[in-house]
Order: sequence, then structure tokens, then C-alpha cells
Amino acid sequence: MLSNEIKNICCIGAGYVGGPTMAVIAKHCHQIQVNVVDINPERIAKWNETDLSNLPIYEPGLKEIVSERRGKNLHFSTNIPVNIKNADMIFISVNTPTKLKGIGAGQASDLKYVEASSREISKYAEGFTIVVEKSTLPVKTAQTIKDILDASSSSEINQEKKSFAVLSNPEFLAEGTAIDDLNNPDRVLIGGDNKEAIGSLVNIYSNWVDKSKVLTTDLWSAELSKLIANAFLAQRISSINTISALCESTGAHIKDVALAVGMDRRIGKDFLNSGPGFGGSCFKKDISNLVYISNHYGLNEVAEYWQKVLTINSWQQKRFVELIVKKMFGTISSKTIAILGFSFKSNTNDTRESPAIFICKKLIEEGAFLKIYDPQVSEEQIEKDLDNNIELESNSKENKNWSFSNSLYETFIGTDAGIFITEWEEFQNLDWTKIVPQMRKPAWIFDTRSILDMDEVKENGINIWQVGCGA
Ligand code: NAD
Ligand code: UGA
Repeated sequence: MLSNEIKNICCIGAGYVGGPTMAVIAKHCHQIQVNVVDINPERIAKWNETDLSNLPIYEPGLKEIVSERRGKNLHFSTNIPVNIKNADMIFISVNTPTKLKGIGAGQASDLKYVEASSREISKYAEGFTIVVEKSTLPVKTAQTIKDILDASSSSEINQEKKSFAVLSNPEFLAEGTAIDDLNNPDRVLIGGDNKEAIGSLVNIYSNWVDKSKVLTTDLWSAELSKLIANAFLAQRISSINTISALCESTGAHIKDVALAVGMDRRIGKDFLNSGPGFGGSCFKKDISNLVYISNHYGLNEVAEYWQKVLTINSWQQKRFVELIVKKMFGTISSKTIAILGFSFKSNTNDTRESPAIFICKKLIEEGAFLKIYDPQVSEEQIEKDLDNNIELESNSKENKNWSFSNSLYETFIGTDAGIFITEWEEFQNLDWTKIVPQMRKPAWIFDTRSILDMDEVKENGINIWQVGCGA
């Protein structure tokens, strides 16, 4: 065996990153046993479901890989000690949410799950183990992990000392395209100072990724690059969203402006779709963390600059709600509104930080009744998101101000307006002749994603507002 040949991987955290990432490694590396572990038994049970439509994560292409590799070299388990013990390489893919209380609350990352994982590794690992940070972490976290692991390095098992190398290998996948992103990454970033350990990880990726795309750096550059990549992406969205408002005020059209601007190769055409603001579990959390770190190092102007990206994101959502109320004669009290799409983007069932949560919450506060439809998000999840977020007595189970709809077309029955919040493909070719008779007139459609043909909607006698569309 080559000194850097890996035979057994353990991934701590079976979430949106751990699950798909390990499935793709298992697909390309049949010689490696890949064990994904989690403290959440329900999540693991779902990963082991015979019916693959019940996997905990909806991601195009994922169930095919799970079906092909599960039970062969891809395993999901709650047995953390044994899988850590058997592993040559351990990925930490646990969640790193924003701290809710204490020092840095609302900005700093809560590293309690990373610390707990490091302690488990330090307790159960045997021999030499490569520990890989897959989670997105504040710059310098590898030092904390090293300190925890080093504290146990002196203990001996069967006269063999424990030892560790820590690498940073941030993940750049986007939800909805995770499998494609993992199969064909723009780059793979590996930070570290142990050449042998880096070589082992490079070898794994070289099973399917061209070596020219594998970038190796020091630990801190790798950790920081991940935060910055997300910050730059989010910044583009806030930038285009400010311009959407300017287009609406001036009579310009955001799609044309984005196309014209993006055709400059130096700017690039991607990530210039204006909409209801970015959602998802990471952009807000990672920028908040960047703001926190910048302030920590006394770089207040840097912090203020990035904070504005978040401010604009919230402003866009508030602006939409105010605009909807204004267009509907200044009140939506006792009106029924169809909500089309609840996930934070299409092709995922993830609702974390979805703009739909804020928008729905505000519309309910204004007295509207909502009928919510999403092709992948469950009623249970919406219930959690809205009930956790709305402290309104009127939203109690007996007196709910929203209902769940299973059928796209039936969602419009008896509604005064429809708001398109997620850009699901099935919303893009609607038969308006089926929708129009169901709605109370004068009816409004609000297209926050710019996905509808405005002329077609207007021809069917419905008022339409579209983001970034000046009159
Ligand atoms: P997630 O919440 O979906 O999954 C994390 C999992 O870790 C959960 O199932 C949780 O039960 C488990 N966990 C927590 N502590 C544990 C412990 N001590 N032992 C075992 N399991 C434990 O989170 P996610 O979306 O997969 O994100 C994970 C990390 O990856 C975050 O740092 C995130 O910023 C980063 N990231 C996420 C994405 C994305 O698209 N979601 C993309 C790139 C990077
Ligand atoms: C994002 C990054 O794209 C990934 O590279 C990164 O790995 C990941 O965060 C992470 O660290 O978690 P993700 O949040 O899954 O991925 O999805 P994106 O496609 O980036 O979309 C984020 C949000 O921005 C969504 O709400 C989306 O609708 C919105 N968006 C995106 C726009 O409003 N306009 C655009 O042009 C693009």
C-alpha cells in the first residue's frame, strides 16, 4: 500500500454537504469504503430508506448514486466511535450556524458542533488520521481543531501513538446542482502543511478531477477563500438587486441591463439574476462571520462594506412586501394570496433563510390568508418555518392563516393575487387559461424572479408586476 493511499473514510455530518459529497466520492472511488455518520438517527434512517424518494435531501442525480453505491462502499450510520476508529481520513461536515447568544451573537459562527466532532475524533481515532475540514469555518479554526487533537496525541493504543494532520478542503457546491458541481468542480481547494496528507486527498480527487483544477495552499488561505467566494457571490446579488429598483423607477429593464453588463468578459454573465434576495443556509451566515472577523481585527471599514450586502438583501424583501400591499389597494387584510415556491431556490427542498419565510410572515401580519405550493417542500417544513417565525396568536393551529396546497393549479382557486417566489421550472410554462377563471378580479401576479411572460399574463386580463421591470 502506498503511504498515502486511503481505504476508509468517515464523514461526520450527513447533511446537504456530507451526504452528496460522500456519495460522489463513493461513486468515483470504489476502492474506498465511505461511512457517513450523524448524531441525528432520523436523518440516518432516511439515508437508509429503501424508497429513495424519502432521502432526507432532494438533489437531482443524488438518488441514482445512492442506489448504485449504498451497501457497497457507501454507508450511513449513527455508530460514530467505530467509524472514526476505522478511518484513515475523517471529513468534518457538520453545521456551523451563526451564534444565537453570548459573545458575537448574530455574527460569529457557532463552532460547538465542530468542537464536539474534534473531541470525538481525538477520543476514538487510532494511529495516523487525516482530519479534513469540509464545513465552512472562520479563518484559523484549524488551529482549534489541531489543539484539541494534539491534546490526545500522547495517548497510546496497542503501543501505537495517535497522530493527526489537519487539512482544509472547503466545499463550493450549490444546492440544486450539487451532483454536477461535485462531478465537475471549477476547482478543488486543499489547504494544509502536511505534504503526505495533502497528497492523499489530491489522490482521491484525481480519480475524477483534472489535476490542473486542484489548488493547494496554506490552511488559512483555504479557510478564508471559502468565506470570500461566498461573499463575492452574495455581493453580486445585492448589486443587481439595487439596480432592479433603479430599473423599476426609470423604465429600464433589469434583464437587458444584466445581459449588457454581463457580456463584458471581465464581469461575466452568471449570478446576475435579480430576485427576492439570497436565501440558503450560507450566504448570510458567512458574510456575518466575515463582518465579525473584520471587526475583530479592527478593520471596521471592511466590516461596514460587507454588512451593506446583508442590509440590501433584507431591504429588497421589505420593498417587495410594501409594493405588494400598495398595488393591492393599500390593504391585503382578508385577501387570499397564492404563494408559488417556498424553497430558497429551485431544485432543492431546503428552506433555510428562504425569502419566502420573511415574505409570508409579513403578508400574514398584514392580515392575508396564504395558500402555499412548492413541489418539494413538505407541509411539515413550512409549518416549522412559519410557526417558529411568526409570533402571532392568529397563526395557532386552530386558526391558521395559511394552507398547504398539493396542486399547482388548485392553489389559485379564490385568490386575489399570486406571488412567484422560487424559480421552479414548472412555473415557467403555465396555462393561464386554467388560472384566470379561478382568481378574484382585479387579480394581481407578482413575479419576484422574472420568470413569467408578462405579455401572456396581461393578455389573460391579469395585472402583473415583475422585478426590475420599469413599467
Ligand atoms: P446540515 O445542517 O444539513 O448538516 C450538518 C449535519 O451535521 C446535521 O445532520 C447534524 O445532525 C450533523 N452533526 C452536527 N454535529 C454533529 C456531531 N457532533 N456528530 C455527528 N453529526 C453531527 O448542514 P450542511 O448544509 O450540510 O452544511 C454543513 C457545512 O458545510 C456548513 O459549515 C456549511 O456552511 C458548509 N457548506 C454548506 C453548503 C450547502 O450548500 N448547504 C455548501 C458548502 C458548504
Ligand atoms: C452557495 C454558493 O453558490 C456555493 O458555491 C456555496 O458552496 C454554497 O452557497 C455554500 O457555501 O453553502 P447555494 O446557497 O446552495 O450555494 O445556492 P446559490 O445558487 O448560490 O443561491 C443562493 C441564493 O442566491 C438563492 O436564494 C438564489 O435564488 C439566489 N440567487 C442566486 C439570486 O437571487 N440570483 C442569482 O443570480 C443567483
